[in-house]
Amino acid sequence: MRIYIYTHSSFAKFQKTTKMSVPSSSFSPFFFLLLFLQCSELSNGNPNSTVNQLSIDFYSKSCPQLEQFVSSVTAQQFRQSPVSGPATIRLFFHDCFVEGCDASILLSSKPGSTVEAEKDAYDNKNLAVEAYDSVKKAKELVESKCPGVVSCADILALAARDFVHLAGGPYYPVKKGRRDGRVSIASGVKPNLPRANSTIDELLKLFASKGLSQADLVALSGAHTIGFSHCDQFVSRLYDFHGTKKPDPYIDPRLLKALQMSCPHFGGNVDVVAPFDVTTPFAFDHMYYGNLEAKLGLLATDQGLFLDPRTRPLVQALGKDKAQFFQAFSLGMEKMGSIEVKLGNQGEIRRDCNKTL
Ligand code: HEM
Repeated sequence: MRIYIYTHSSFAKFQKTTKMSVPSSSFSPFFFLLLFLQCSELSNGNPNSTVNQLSIDFYSKSCPQLEQFVSSVTAQQFRQSPVSGPATIRLFFHDCFVEGCDASILLSSKPGSTVEAEKDAYDNKNLAVEAYDSVKKAKELVESKCPGVVSCADILALAARDFVHLAGGPYYPVKKGRRDGRVSIASGVKPNLPRANSTIDELLKLFASKGLSQADLVALSGAHTIGFSHCDQFVSRLYDFHGTKKPDPYIDPRLLKALQMSCPHFGGNVDVVAPFDVTTPFAFDHMYYGNLEAKLGLLATDQGLFLDPRTRPLVQALGKDKAQFFQAFSLGMEKMGSIEVKLGNQGEIRRDCNKTL
């Protein structure tokens, strides 16, 4: 087993020297059929669901080439800086969980205002700048082709999907029609996001409050098959787990040693990051779940999904079956992407994603 630990600068060097394989197509038409059927069942079964009101062909007249415009930018960003991928997927998650998927996370705090925007909340400080850049560049291109038509919220949803696929994950259809929000308040962030040391009970409750099931929690956590975490998010597992003065017993000893070398108990380099998936850190695959069975989870919440009897069976199932993971993840993203969306004449279509009209 090879264990990868990086600082951001060594990772940047790695990107330049490593070829990352990007499959052109990972899915059969059967998968899409299944996905559509399940999504329509899902929304028909829930009268409050807004999934029905978003649509695949929302911009078919007003901006028919939208998806090509966005994908030309995401492909270039991914080539130049692969960290854009995980960063944008996480940005989408943080947007949807706070005030719904309305690009409120992209708004900047207003100069002179006493109310900070979501972007400046503590829990969003370590969202990588590459994610904001990707959406900004995609929006600029889209604005130059279809001015004033496409929301930042839809561009973020499309960019997140593109990056999943560019990293080797599924290419799932994205429904569109989200409007951009006008409200972004930093104090709304903490209560709506999970923490690295949340219990599984807390995660289940939080996800349920967003209309997401236990299965969605397990499937969406699979996004941690790519990307990195800073030491401060898991250091409490390495030395003094829950005040025991011992490490978390559910960490493989070799991983523990490697993490301890990079992340000292006190006073470490704040820029050091470790990959979530220590076996295939750059591939969007189902190894994340196999790792959890082998005590190779990075965050307590990741490892917790295997330890908790409610979520373990699905972790085991997804660890055995990549196609099942891709299907469950795609459905989860569709559901997450419809949380509290603004539709019709709600909200606005921003010209610049950083500021309201
Ligand atoms: C289930 C509860 C979750 C918890 C507790 C959690 C927590 C975290 C933490 C602590 C980090 C590392 C941040 C840093 O140190 O820079 C992270 C990164 C990440 N998260 Fe999650 N997360 C959760 C669910 C999700 C979901 C649902 C998604 C998307 C569908 C997601 C996508 C990501 C990605 C892609 C990264 C890597 C970001 C990067 O490398 O720039 N996470 N998450």
